[in-house]
Amino acid sequence: MKQDRTLINKAITLPATSPLLKNDFIFGVATASFQIEGAADSRLDTIWDTFCATPGKIRDGSDGKTACEHVSHWEEDLRLIRSMGVDAYRFSVSWARVIHADGSVNQQGLDFYIALLDRLNEYAIKPFVTLYHWDLPQYLEDQGGWLNRETAYKFRDYADRVSRAFGDRVHSYATLNEPFCSAYLGYEAGIHAPGHKSRAYGKQAAHHLLLAHGLAMEVLERNAPEALNGIVLNFSPCYPESDSAEDIEAANMADEYFNHWYLQPLLEQRYPDVLEKLPRSEHPPVMPGDMAIIGHKLDYIGINYYTRERYQASASELFEKLEHEQQPLTDMGWEVFPQGLTDLLLDYHQRYLLPPVYITENGAAMVDKLVDGKVDDPERLAYLQSHLQAVDDAAMQGVDVRGYFAWSLMDNFEWAEGYLKRFGIVYVDYESQQRIIKSSGYAYRDFLLQKAEQGAGKQQAGAR
Ligand code: FCB
Repeated sequence: MKQDRTLINKAITLPATSPLLKNDFIFGVATASFQIEGAADSRLDTIWDTFCATPGKIRDGSDGKTACEHVSHWEEDLRLIRSMGVDAYRFSVSWARVIHADGSVNQQGLDFYIALLDRLNEYAIKPFVTLYHWDLPQYLEDQGGWLNRETAYKFRDYADRVSRAFGDRVHSYATLNEPFCSAYLGYEAGIHAPGHKSRAYGKQAAHHLLLAHGLAMEVLERNAPEALNGIVLNFSPCYPESDSAEDIEAANMADEYFNHWYLQPLLEQRYPDVLEKLPRSEHPPVMPGDMAIIGHKLDYIGINYYTRERYQASASELFEKLEHEQQPLTDMGWEVFPQGLTDLLLDYHQRYLLPPVYITENGAAMVDKLVDGKVDDPERLAYLQSHLQAVDDAAMQGVDVRGYFAWSLMDNFEWAEGYLKRFGIVYVDYESQQRIIKSSGYAYRDFLLQKAEQGAGKQQAGAR
């Protein structure tokens, strides 16, 4: 771990009255198992191992076998996290590391996470544990994966075993990370594992994922009643290309298809109206009682935000998505559009009875260069600053936002993009496995240290 204060040339700031500066607003960093852990030999294969081994699926032909070698570097990584002054660390458990194919517990795998949790608690860093960040054990995919209703019950059993073993060590559980990506990208568009391409499959997978979530919520409520239990969804708000009624209608349908498809069942126990526009063969396989399970009360909802999308009417489809062209774009080719985060938070706040919100991922891939042992990333810093300001705007207008996590703690395996895209506020030199804090990481740290100092000052003043 390298620390160099000379890199601090720009700062993250928020207005003094910002709700984000309150003592109990949580700031953190986030990662996910497959993207950082490596140590593939000590777990079962997952759908991502299979996908990576399929030629042409990963842009640089890479895989997650070693990644950031977090399993052997975890102690150093936790010291790094602590040095950044965060309140919380969001990470995910690899199902394939903790449960054997016969359903029994892999104690060695569980012990890894228990040691991690104990260390986080010792450091007074709140553990936010995601149970499923896309890495389905391959043996379950061989039985149909998320197309098989049984997988939802297997997930419940996994959640049960893990939450019993973790006891009271966990501050917050998220059942799933971004079921949209698992279902749509994995089973409908085919660009993520397991790589199926079928509209009917997409809806089937989505329904079973949502059911898995609901079943796991029942288990978590019993096993971890003190934890904040919820789910993490990703949203890209949908904007019409013009003011025409057709474009507005297209954007609304896209919004229902990509965003509300996941949120509305959770909060209102029903799929959005766009469902009626789909042929029966593409309807989700809802069984009696499912929607009540899916609609289990949430302690919070995690929202991941990166960019927005623009739509126009289409002659043959429900909507047509437009390419990102408005500058600035990130290295992913995603438009930098902080207003979208404010808009979506306000929109959902008005439409639904939202539970408390945590921004569980937000960040940007940029072309980072290691020069003389340093990485200066002013664009990422500007991205973080503008999006924190966007969260502040929404909070000032009444949205109950309680936390913000930067994606990501460190550069890692970016799914279909392999190691080509760097999202970290810490740079990873994959050859040496050295971690180097980028200038955005220093700015985040300084912002948090200053916030903590001011918070302590306020508390002292209050005590007098
Ligand atoms: C999100 C994923 C996360 C990461 C970021 C860039 O969709 O949850 O793992 O890949 O995108």
